[in-house]
Amino acid sequence: MTVSTTAKGKFITLEGIDGAGKTTHLGWLDRALRDKGHKVMVTREPGGTPLGEKLRELLLDSGRAMHAETEALLMFAARREHLDKVILPALARGEWVISDRFTDASFAYQGGGRGLAGHKLDDLERWVQGDFQPDLTLYFDVAVKLGRQRINAIKPADRFEKEQDAFFERVREAYLERAHKFPSRIRVIDSNQSLEEVKKSLDKVILAIC
Ligand code: TYD
Repeated sequence: MTVSTTAKGKFITLEGIDGAGKTTHLGWLDRALRDKGHKVMVTREPGGTPLGEKLRELLLDSGRAMHAETEALLMFAARREHLDKVILPALARGEWVISDRFTDASFAYQGGGRGLAGHKLDDLERWVQGDFQPDLTLYFDVAVKLGRQRINAIKPADRFEKEQDAFFERVREAYLERAHKFPSRIRVIDSNQSLEEVKKSLDKVILAIC
């Protein structure tokens, strides 16, 4: 199906393997855009709507195994709802929308990580969002071992975070391939650096988009 929007605001998505520090960087981005006078809506995937948050609980529950295609379908089901109820209406109101993950995560985790065929994900993407794409995607790139240390320090692992390093190597590889394929949309930010250095890189990106 085709999704159309009379967007005035911008749609920015944040991506990275678990432990890349997205949540901290999202806070900075949100504040910086608000300081520039933009109305900002912060949201996340999977989730962002009441139904999407229920799907998120099922998807992240570490006691619940599921087929890789079921996982992909649920991610895109949550996304369809998210676009319809949250993202497109906010953009139409002229707001800037920042989403903690979007479709690149499906290509990285379900495609790279789980090994689902790219053409199946292409079909789902086309079905759920037509030609609609983020205006900008910030991909926070971190070495798998460092990402792992960071998540272990914060909270118990969810179903994805329990995966082995080899899974995250494939996810990271798939993100880097996406960044290579869509260089004008996806900006790679080296998150192996200190938080201060990452913030400097992010400030440069923010200056360029505002
Ligand atoms: P994440 O965004 O890392 O949230 P938190 O910071 O609370 O852990 O968790 C979402 C998980 O969902 C993450 O491990 C990646 C996964 N995911 C996919 O596998 N495919 C997708 O399409 C999306 C949006 C997320």
